[in-house]
Amino acid sequence: MSSTPNPQTRPRSVALARLVRAVQQQILRGTLEYEQFGQVPDKPHMQNYWFSTPGEPDTPQEVFDHLHWGGQFVYVCTDQVQAQQVAANFHDQGGFVMERSVQRIVTRVAGLWLPGFSKKGYFFIARKLLLVLPGQMTDRFTYHVQLVRNPQADYGYVVYKEVPTLDNVAWRLREKHPDIPEETIVKRARKLVENVFPIFLTRETAILNILQRDLPKSYRHRVPKVIGYEKDDRGFVRRLYLNWLRLGGETMSQIEFAKQTADLLRVLHNDGGVIHLDLRLDNFVISNGEVSFVDFGSAVRDGEDLSQSPMLTSLFEEMMRTSQIQRLLGKWANSGRITNKVIREKFQHVDKAIDFFYMAVQMNRPHHNPEFQDLVHCDKTSLEAEQISALTASILRPKDPDNPAFQSAADILEGIHQIEKFLVSQEDQAA
Ligand SMILES: Nc1ncnc2c1ncn2[C@@H]1O[C@H](COP(=O)(O)OP(=O)(O)OP(=O)(O)O)[C@@H](O)[C@H]1O
Ligand SMILES: [Mg+2]
Repeated sequence: MSSTPNPQTRPRSVALARLVRAVQQQILRGTLEYEQFGQVPDKPHMQNYWFSTPGEPDTPQEVFDHLHWGGQFVYVCTDQVQAQQVAANFHDQGGFVMERSVQRIVTRVAGLWLPGFSKKGYFFIARKLLLVLPGQMTDRFTYHVQLVRNPQADYGYVVYKEVPTLDNVAWRLREKHPDIPEETIVKRARKLVENVFPIFLTRETAILNILQRDLPKSYRHRVPKVIGYEKDDRGFVRRLYLNWLRLGGETMSQIEFAKQTADLLRVLHNDGGVIHLDLRLDNFVISNGEVSFVDFGSAVRDGEDLSQSPMLTSLFEEMMRTSQIQRLLGKWANSGRITNKVIREKFQHVDKAIDFFYMAVQMNRPHHNPEFQDLVHCDKTSLEAEQISALTASILRPKDPDNPAFQSAADILEGIHQIEKFLVSQEDQAA
């Protein structure tokens, strides 16, 4: 762990390096956020603070993918006009908001301002609020999700999840299906924006409140809490405010990641009585060194009778036919990569097996979520990775497919505990 700000493309002049340090010491140091997130791992993939000076990246496009969600871009230079010109690139655009507008900074010597020695400069700080660069297309996210200011919240921000606009949805459908007539595109986009997305956001709000009631206390912080929501005149939630499970914490081992994931899923199923149905790695967050699940938009309560509502029945049928997870399950079942009867039988069904199937797959590839590169240590050549991969193989292709050993998240957690014991015994032998 080192305290140098960020990997520089080229050496920074002594004067600029002193000014950057002055911003760190006089502006950032002592803030909860900088104390918690200011440390930079060696060779980081993504960061919470990016410091730039003239000649280094100075546009949202250049720094966006290097900053974690909510991360801050700090620009330092000696010329006020230059600072304002660069600040203009980040002023409520490019997915950023101005956290501190251009202001003066003076280096100190032994804490003192010494004429002739102290150096004057200018800096500003902008924070990344969006998940995707404006104008960029992505399949990773459906809703408009961003950080919004809330002075009461940790770090002053909460998560805001909103039904996307008709234009945005029509644009994405047009990009994906260029051959479909415009009229059909708009009709489909209207159905999604006026019915489908509000229904799922309303369900997500209700399910998150249920989880805060039914999950054991010690697990409630590992799913988002509803802070507020706004409904439309039909009573559907269109805007949802959630606490920000900010990414961070000590780097964990792959086995720890797998264990925490299986344990949380066990509790979600057994105590929360909720099936997530969309456990893609994008819907995982690692916050304060703990695995959390977000995005309960597709979730269903265990035993919930969807047939009560023809609308829900058709929506979930379509989702169970088209979801990324279900399509993979179908493909692997056909190719013989899944023989486990309990999982195969639930193809295109709403069931806990969908969750533990996909969890078994994800625990082998935490880095498929780029934000986890520095938070989960993965070494494909390690005994640990080999053991987890072997566990996944025995979950999907058990000795007795009709009576598989792994039929729940709890079973998989037990399997992970066995691996942990084995790895410890290996270490003891090696010691
Ligand atoms: N409360 C939260 N704390 C931290 N990060 C969050 C939180 N809620 C959402 N996120 C982040 O925002 C991303 C998008 O949010 P979410 O998954 O809820 O919406 P979505 O992806 O648009 O929905 P879907 O997965 O159904 O397409 C998540 O992948 C996660 O990285
Ligand atoms: Mg999501």
